[in-house]
Amino acid sequence: MSAAPWWASENAWKKIAIWVTGLSLVVLIFLTFDSMQQITAGGKRVPDYSVINQRIDYRFDDVRKYQVPVIGPEAPLFGKKVSAEEAEALVAHGKKTFQGRNCINCHTILGNGAYYAPDLTKAWLDPAWGAEAARESLMIEFLKNPDQNARTFGTGRKMAHLRVTDEEAKALVAYLKWVSSIDTNGFPYNFKTIQQGG
Ligand code: HEC
Repeated sequence: MSAAPWWASENAWKKIAIWVTGLSLVVLIFLTFDSMQQITAGGKRVPDYSVINQRIDYRFDDVRKYQVPVIGPEAPLFGKKVSAEEAEALVAHGKKTFQGRNCINCHTILGNGAYYAPDLTKAWLDPAWGAEAARESLMIEFLKNPDQNARTFGTGRKMAHLRVTDEEAKALVAYLKWVSSIDTNGFPYNFKTIQQGG
């Protein structure tokens, strides 16, 4: 009886299967921790929620070849600096409102959603708000009464009136400001930022 070569034996394949499964598990665990580090607020790419107290700007990075976020000097939202806890609560309220009102039914944010309406990932920095000083109040007015403040960007599409309250509008602005500070590897491609003083 001639012996089968080692690679044809059942035992060898069992061992290979066990090793491949084990190694894949190690790689998966490593990638999970790496991803968590990349997407957790307070990390390298996703700033802490208290970034809403700072000016958020972008500059073209010659090495990466796209716009990268620059966290600037103090520029508190609605003229009032908030604590880290208050900032987190405000952004969380904004995010829940965003999800509760199903804003991604029309908009895209961080790569998720629909393309009926403008991408909101950098909406805080949209030059269409006109001037930095007026932006906060214009955004609040717009979110509360989008049909009456429609700009439509030449598309003729209007945002639905979603009965957003004062509180919710403020939280949404805080959420959008925080999202705009996230380093998204230049996405959305070629966006332009609002002219900011200083
Ligand atoms: C029925 C579709 C629809 C839904 C739902 C919707 N929007 Fe809009 N939104 C639009 C359209 C269309 C525009 C562009 C027209 C305009 O600006 O008047 C717009 C514009 C905006 C802008 C201005 C974007 C910019 O870059 O200047 C913001 C901010 C915004 N929406 C936020 C929201 C938020 C927050 C929600 C959820 C509470 C939401 N939208 C839900 C359709 C929608």
